[in-house]
Amino acid sequence: MKNPQLNEHGELQHLLSVEGLPRDTLLHILDTADSFIGITDREVKKVPLLRGKSVFNLFFENSTRTRTTFEIAAKRLSADVINLNINTSSTTKGETLLDTVDNLSAMHADMFIVRHASSGAPYLIAQHVASHLHVINAGDGRHAHPTQGLLDIYTIRHYKRDLSALSVAVVGDVLHSRVARSLIHALTTLGVPDVRVIGPKTLLPAGVEKLGVKVFHDMNHGLAGCDVVVMLRLQNERMNGSLLPSAQEFFKSYGLTPEKLALAKPDAIVMHPGPMNRGVEIDSAVADGPHSVILPQVTFGIAVRMAVMSILAGN
Ligand code: CP
Repeated sequence: MKNPQLNEHGELQHLLSVEGLPRDTLLHILDTADSFIGITDREVKKVPLLRGKSVFNLFFENSTRTRTTFEIAAKRLSADVINLNINTSSTTKGETLLDTVDNLSAMHADMFIVRHASSGAPYLIAQHVASHLHVINAGDGRHAHPTQGLLDIYTIRHYKRDLSALSVAVVGDVLHSRVARSLIHALTTLGVPDVRVIGPKTLLPAGVEKLGVKVFHDMNHGLAGCDVVVMLRLQNERMNGSLLPSAQEFFKSYGLTPEKLALAKPDAIVMHPGPMNRGVEIDSAVADGPHSVILPQVTFGIAVRMAVMSILAGN
């Protein structure tokens, strides 16, 4: 079956998922992002790689980090950026997703950045659009958030350099997390030998160990000796019914406090894709503490998204 992310020459045409991307492609994206990091420190923070191109942000779900950093990244590549306001768009009058996309394509769109509550929506668009267009998945349902997974692995590589001896723990609501799925695929593809998921049974997907991870229900055991701790938000908006006694109970067992973090390595880094719920999955003392690289993650997201957009536009 044809890989929906590749064009007829086997090059990356769309970025829909980290799953199935070869190691070399992931490394190419990370190395390209490295080359964009320095642009932020320049007086003129722009390169002309997407000059004359139109990038449409289609966010059918709310976002602070992803939508804004895609906009900054596209502008730094000199693209024209159009943010469709979904709440005031004609989708509220019953226009279908694909009709909206067709109309924006008629306005000479070159790239669509798509966030949607339905898993698979960016795939549907990628299969529908003309072959010169590019689609980037900015988060679809609980399925995938590839640029978040890439910026997370970029952050880990930045701080830890050698991925080949790392222990990485992903903690919390893995079941509903597209971020966790994308990061786990990136970690295992790039050869991180010890990837752990930590959470209650109700918040871990059945058969998650098939992704190449070790499963822990006791956070104290799971965090022991870790180099990287990735905390996840409870995705209440995706839960059907009550999967937990209460947020307070969750924090007691799975919230990251300074005491629990002390079980990881002394130089462990703490990550969170955001938005954070302080006092639910993470204590403020950790979120704002010396191990936290949560805000650098956001900054690295710009370079990683520049890398993805420039690679797609060149194919
Ligand atoms: N990490 C992430 O996707 O954040 P936003 O929902 O703010 O884009």
